[in-house]
Amino acid sequence: MKKIAFLLILFNCFSCLLLGENFTALAAEQVSYERVVIISDAHYPTRISETENPKAFLSHVDKKLKAADTINSWKDVSLVVFTGDLIARLPSEKSLNNALQFYDRITQPKTVIAGNHEFFYAPEMKNGKKQTASTEQRRQNLRNFKEIFDLPNLYFTKNLGGYLLVFLSPDAVHGKYKVEMSQNQLQWLEKTLQANAATPTLIFYHAPLVGTLDTYYKGINSLGNTAQPAGELERILMNSPQVILWVSGHTHTPAVNPSFASPVNYYHGRILDIHNSTMEDDTIWTNSIYLYPDKIVIQTFNHQTGEIEDALTRTIDVHRRLQWLRSAENKAA
Ligand SMILES: [Fe+2]
Repeated sequence: MKKIAFLLILFNCFSCLLLGENFTALAAEQVSYERVVIISDAHYPTRISETENPKAFLSHVDKKLKAADTINSWKDVSLVVFTGDLIARLPSEKSLNNALQFYDRITQPKTVIAGNHEFFYAPEMKNGKKQTASTEQRRQNLRNFKEIFDLPNLYFTKNLGGYLLVFLSPDAVHGKYKVEMSQNQLQWLEKTLQANAATPTLIFYHAPLVGTLDTYYKGINSLGNTAQPAGELERILMNSPQVILWVSGHTHTPAVNPSFASPVNYYHGRILDIHNSTMEDDTIWTNSIYLYPDKIVIQTFNHQTGEIEDALTRTIDVHRRLQWLRSAENKAA
């Protein structure tokens, strides 16, 4: 009898071990959301000079690699989005290939859009200063970016969990501003939003929408630091009530800044701009956007403490929001 009981216990333990693994795998498969993790302004390896400050250089690189490994350890990630400025400074092919090493460190499904650093500058300094790229050089920068990161297009969409994700990149080769879109891209954006008017939508772009941060220094909300052309974008977005989130970096706003997560982040009271910090700060934070069928939850993870910043968590009731936006549209019509 004792022998049978012992064998049963042994069998149960063995089953637990086996099933435990299965249950974990099952739980990972059966999550009711799609998790999108944002990496912005990685500036990999770092803008710190390796020769002038080798210790700080190594420390920054190490922190970024550890953050990437932490993101790789999360079992429920559907997509990692790099929202531009992946390179350290200037868009030389060497710099792009360095950044590619960091991009490839992420083993989760991933995609990338350009920032001003991939687009707007000449690949080499002149007299110790960075230079605005010529029209032809901007075209070449974008060709290099697409080729090295194996992107068929600079602007594209993905469908995820019942949501439309729209990815945009600065590409105005004749433009005055470093985060400006071309007319071709704006036309594509307008058509894409018109064709998906019933689908809740997130837009990913390097620069934020104007007015979605407190002007905590004079460059914030300036023409060079907000999505351009602002007037055209305003017209398109105000005609697209399904757009719920605009996900941006560029301003390097740290999560400790009061306007990182604040009512000011609502563009025209409608579209919530999710600001993402740089990886160049002493503390690295990454946002996760959880797409549920009926709500979106945004959480900010502190890679230094290994904890979620609970005070920054935001939840959007998607159904109620779309109903409210559409009824406001109808009243206005
Ligand atoms: Fe940046």
